[in-house]
Amino acid sequence: MRALILTGGLGTRLRPLTLALPKPVLPVVNRPFLEHQLLDLRRQGVREVLLATGYKPKAFAKAFGNGHRLGLKLRYAHETRPLGTGGAVRQALSFFKGTTLVLNGDVLQRLDLASFRKRHLDVRAEVSIALTRVADPTQFGLVETNGRGLVKRFLEKPSPEEVTCDTINAGAYLIEPSALDLIPPGVLYSIERGLFPELLKRGRRMAGWVSNGYWLDIGTLDKYLQAHVDGLGGAWPLPLAGLRHKGAFLLDHGARLSPRASHEGRGRVLLGPGTTVEAGARFSGSVCLGADVRVAPGAALNDCVVLDGARIGAESRLDRCLVGRNVRIGAGSVVGPGRALGDGSRLTPFSR
Ligand code: GDD
Ligand code: MG
Repeated sequence: MRALILTGGLGTRLRPLTLALPKPVLPVVNRPFLEHQLLDLRRQGVREVLLATGYKPKAFAKAFGNGHRLGLKLRYAHETRPLGTGGAVRQALSFFKGTTLVLNGDVLQRLDLASFRKRHLDVRAEVSIALTRVADPTQFGLVETNGRGLVKRFLEKPSPEEVTCDTINAGAYLIEPSALDLIPPGVLYSIERGLFPELLKRGRRMAGWVSNGYWLDIGTLDKYLQAHVDGLGGAWPLPLAGLRHKGAFLLDHGARLSPRASHEGRGRVLLGPGTTVEAGARFSGSVCLGADVRVAPGAALNDCVVLDGARIGAESRLDRCLVGRNVRIGAGSVVGPGRALGDGSRLTPFSR
C-alpha cells in the first residue's frame, strides 16, 4: 500500500521553533519528527510514500532525500501556494493506486495498519477514518459513528455545545480513488470541512475505526514537549539503537556525561551526539539534549527539550521549557514552564 503524507502546514502554533524548520522536520528525540512515522510505516510494509509539501520544502529533501536511508521510495509533490488538505490530496490523484493511506504529518501515533485495512475492506467503505478518544474534541475533527461503525457526522473544530461524543479524527485515512472525484482541482479545499461532509451528504460510505495505540498531535508547544516526555518515559517506543545506557541517561555517539551529574524521578535523559554534561548538573523527569549541547556545572533541568548547539550556563534552572538551536543561557538564569526560546536567542546571566 502507498501512503501520502500531508506536510504543508506553516506550524504557526509551534513558533518560534518552526521559523527555521517545518513542523515535520523539527526534531523529536533528536530525529526529524516524521522519521518516527516513516519508520513505523516501513515496519508495517509500506514502501512508497509521497510527501505533499508547501512550507520549507528544501528541509524535507535535506532530511529524507529519496528515502533510501529509511528503506522507502520517497517522492515529493510541492504546492507553490497552499491547496489545503483536500487540494493537496487532489493534486496527488495519480499517486493513488487502489486503497491509499493518507496521513497528517504532525501526528505521533501507533496505528495498526493491517487491522485498519481489514476493517476498511470488510465494510466496503469508500473512506475510512482512524479515530482516537480525547477529553476535549474542540481542537479536532469530531466524528460520530452509528452502531455499525459507519460515520454519521464529521464536524471540524466543534464548539463546546456541538460536542456529542469523544471520538475524533486521528489524522489517518484509507481512501479509494473514487472519493476524490468530489474535490475540485487546483483550488484551496479542505478534506475535513469539504470532502468528508460532502461525501456524507451524498450517502457515500464512510467508516470510523477506533485506534487504541498511542496518539498525540505535536502541533503546539506543550504537545511537542509532551511527545518527548512520553517517549523518554516509555509511552511510545524510542529508536534506541546505538545509544549507550548509564542509569537514566542515554548517550549518543561522542556524548560525555560527568560521573557527578545526577537524575531523579521518572523518565530519562538523552544526550545527543557530541553533547557534554558537566559536574553537578542535576536532571529530573525527561530531558532531551540535542547534538553538541553543553550543560555547565550546577545547572538544573526538569522536563525540557534543548535543541542542537545550545549552551546552558552554570547554576541556571530550566523547568518544562523549550530551548531552540544555538541558544545561549547565561549562568544563574531561570526559564520557567511553557517558555520557548527561538533559535539563537541569548539570555544574559541571571535573566529571569
Ligand atoms: N500539503 C499541504 N497543504 N498540507 C497541509 C496544508 C496544505 O495547504 N494545510 C495543512 N496541511 C497539513 C499540516 O502540515 C498537517 O500535517 C495536516 O495537514 C493537518 O493540518 P493541521 O493544521 O495540523 O490541522 P489540525 O491539527 O488543526 O487538525 C487536523 O488534525 C487533527 C488531528 O491532529 C484535522 O485533520 C482534524 O480533523 C484532526 O482531528
Ligand atoms: Mg495538527
